[in-house]
Amino acid sequence: MKAAVRDRYGPPEIVRVEDVDMPVPAGDQALVRVEAASVNRADLDGLGPRPAFARLIIGIRAPRNHAVGIDVAGVVESIGPAVTRFKPGDRVFGDMFSFGAGAFAEYTCAPERAFQLIPDGMSFEDAATLPHSAILALQSLRLRKGRTIEPGSHVLIDGASGNVGPFAVQIAKAMGAEVTGVCRTEKVEFVRSLGADHVIDYTAVDYTRTGERYDWIVDTDSHHSLLAVRHALRPGGVYVTLGGTGLPILGALLLGPVISRAAGKPMGLLIWWRPFNAAPDDVGRLKDLIAAGKVRPVIDRRFPLSQIVEALRYVDDGKPKGKVLIITT
Ligand SMILES: NC(=O)c1ccc[n+]([C@@H]2O[C@H](COP(=O)([O-])OP(=O)(O)OC[C@H]3O[C@@H](n4cnc5c(N)ncnc54)[C@H](OP(=O)(O)O)[C@@H]3O)[C@@H](O)[C@H]2O)c1
Repeated sequence: MKAAVRDRYGPPEIVRVEDVDMPVPAGDQALVRVEAASVNRADLDGLGPRPAFARLIIGIRAPRNHAVGIDVAGVVESIGPAVTRFKPGDRVFGDMFSFGAGAFAEYTCAPERAFQLIPDGMSFEDAATLPHSAILALQSLRLRKGRTIEPGSHVLIDGASGNVGPFAVQIAKAMGAEVTGVCRTEKVEFVRSLGADHVIDYTAVDYTRTGERYDWIVDTDSHHSLLAVRHALRPGGVYVTLGGTGLPILGALLLGPVISRAAGKPMGLLIWWRPFNAAPDDVGRLKDLIAAGKVRPVIDRRFPLSQIVEALRYVDDGKPKGKVLIITT
């Protein structure tokens, strides 16, 4: 079978498509024929790697795991003897982040707990957009202890035009918030089309300096320091950042608790992430939001697996307005 692989760190161009052995599902594993996969910032972060200190976990000189791709939707091809939830022919989707990646391939294999059934009526393409980014969006609007946004909350999504942002905008709107999205000039209309009440073009305006105050700020990539964001929060307001480069992540991790206490505002890195496979309630909630038409996956472009480098490059260059898919069939 064909699969995207990499054996060193670097930009998208280090990825290549190769013939590899077809996995044979053992024990509780399911082999899935991939119909669609989607690209996430986490895929590019894994290539870099970003942050650099991720090498301590995934391999100091070179990545130990050569597989690429986390978001997947497809059909169960065969199952190991201990599988109880699925049978061949079932339509499933999942996030392979915790299972060794491998979504950018003709087939992928993981323990059955990695997957959930795709709801009737949902396409493989829509399903492939959801597992990583939509779950992160949902959880970025909720603190570990359950505090979340309320109807009428003023919510700002910094990075509203990427993978997580469009889901966060739509989920916050569905929860009754007044939503401001932040993005570059070319994507202002796209973010408005997601339902954002206000859109700020970050190339012209720094939202931390406008005098506006928000109840909840989600930053998909640590675009401002905690000290700057503090002034854009209402009393008791919340700031959640999802990722970024090394220093902002370390700052959010180490300084977050200190600044939060001093300012009386919870601020810091989202460290309560429960991925798709560990968050069945959130997956159920997403399915409901989509069935009710309140959240709509937006697909910017589809690439065949053979053009995986072009797809990753397109996302890395910040061009998409919505999700980018890898189509394998
Ligand atoms: N915390 C956790 O447990 C956890 C788990 C998994 C993943 N993650 C992380 O979550 C993040 C998810 O990000 P994503 O996939 O949504 O990223 P993305 O698609 O790359 O989106 C990045 C966004 O940042 C915006 N942006 C770029 N420069 C900006 C600036 N100077 N000011 C304001 N906005 C700017 C982009 O806007 P334009 O395109 O309009 O320029 C884009 O909307 C990744 O960092 C990933 O590693 C976190």
